[in-house]
Amino acid sequence: MKVTLILGARPQIIKSAPFIHLASKDKQISLSIIHTGQHYDYEMTKIFFKELNLPEPAANLNVGSGTHAQQTAKIMLRLEKLLQKQKPDMVIVPGDTNSTLAGALTAVKLHIPVAHIEAGARSYDMHMPEEINRRLTDHCSTLLFTPTENCTQNLLKEGIDKTKIHQTGDTMYDVLLQQLPKAEKTQILEQLGLTPKTYALLTTHRPENVDNPENLKNITEAILRLNQLTIIFPAHPRTQKQLQKTKLYKKLEKQDHIKIIKPIGYHETVKLIKNAALILTDSGGMQKEAFWLKTPCVTLREKTEWPETVKLGANHLVGVNKQKIIETTGEILEKGDKITEKLKNTPNPFGDGEASRKILGVIKSFPKE
Ligand code: UD1
Repeated sequence: MKVTLILGARPQIIKSAPFIHLASKDKQISLSIIHTGQHYDYEMTKIFFKELNLPEPAANLNVGSGTHAQQTAKIMLRLEKLLQKQKPDMVIVPGDTNSTLAGALTAVKLHIPVAHIEAGARSYDMHMPEEINRRLTDHCSTLLFTPTENCTQNLLKEGIDKTKIHQTGDTMYDVLLQQLPKAEKTQILEQLGLTPKTYALLTTHRPENVDNPENLKNITEAILRLNQLTIIFPAHPRTQKQLQKTKLYKKLEKQDHIKIIKPIGYHETVKLIKNAALILTDSGGMQKEAFWLKTPCVTLREKTEWPETVKLGANHLVGVNKQKIIETTGEILEKGDKITEKLKNTPNPFGDGEASRKILGVIKSFPKE
């Protein structure tokens, strides 16, 4: 069976890794990876192939950055030619990026069945480009692999045929379990001069936060005030650019308690999340990683596609309200060990770490036309 996996942005590489390893070893599967080139900096793509030991993609479409229409259209134009040559039996698209949607649309229009990994997640916020990408991808997919029961229910509510839905669990949980020993071995705490549970890890890259000067200012002012702990801030290229434009970068750099660093690899990120007192983020994936690693999470958004983590008390949605960020962080720090104990006993709705194996099984039993 010829299967083509399409990826292009940082989180897609991470969540595909266990599937790529399994499919590469499987004699019945001929796997081809196409990189769209949505992400291109070493720290945004190559580093993950290296540390997760992934094979080189068969092709890179080199689309780079641009507006949503430019990026999506460029991927479609370049991918169509390749898929017409490759003629795969199935195209797999993980996650919710522009590469996901462009890959799904191109394939379905060529009548190639699409399998969506991480289907059914919904934030019910159509201002997020990812929400649009997720919804459209789900509705043109033939196989929908959901991470949780909530995701399955979201799809059923939208009228998606239940025979297409396979609740496998979350492939990001698979990769976390597999890579944790390597993450533990990294020296990132020593390199940054950190001791466990004395720092917060901050990431923010959502356009609605960092491209909006008011929101970026609110986040910045909150972290300037949170000087009771060290704040490690690996800044996404988009965020770096915006901070420099608004001169906030200089303000942050001057503070002893704030360390702005380049984006870091997967292993170092996992180690930093695990040992943090809490994380502050607007990333979708990091909300889940914090949950699995039992670290409290303060989410710099009003809505989340992972409400499971909020219901279970591990994740706090604060938006970009300065006061709320400061207060919630203060409350979490005060409770300290009590929260860690509570999180240790929280059930995991994201499966058993075997999602990728289950996904491969379903794909292999898919009838060939
Ligand atoms: C994309 C995904 C988002 C995901 C994120 C992970 C979409 C709509 N968004 O957002 O869901 O959480 O990836 O990082 O697909 N840039 C570089 N170097 C790079 C890549 C980007 O400098 O290697 C800069 C460029 O200025 C670019 C900007 O970052 O314009 C945004 O990149 P883009 O790929 O459009 O979206 P992300 O914000 O990375």
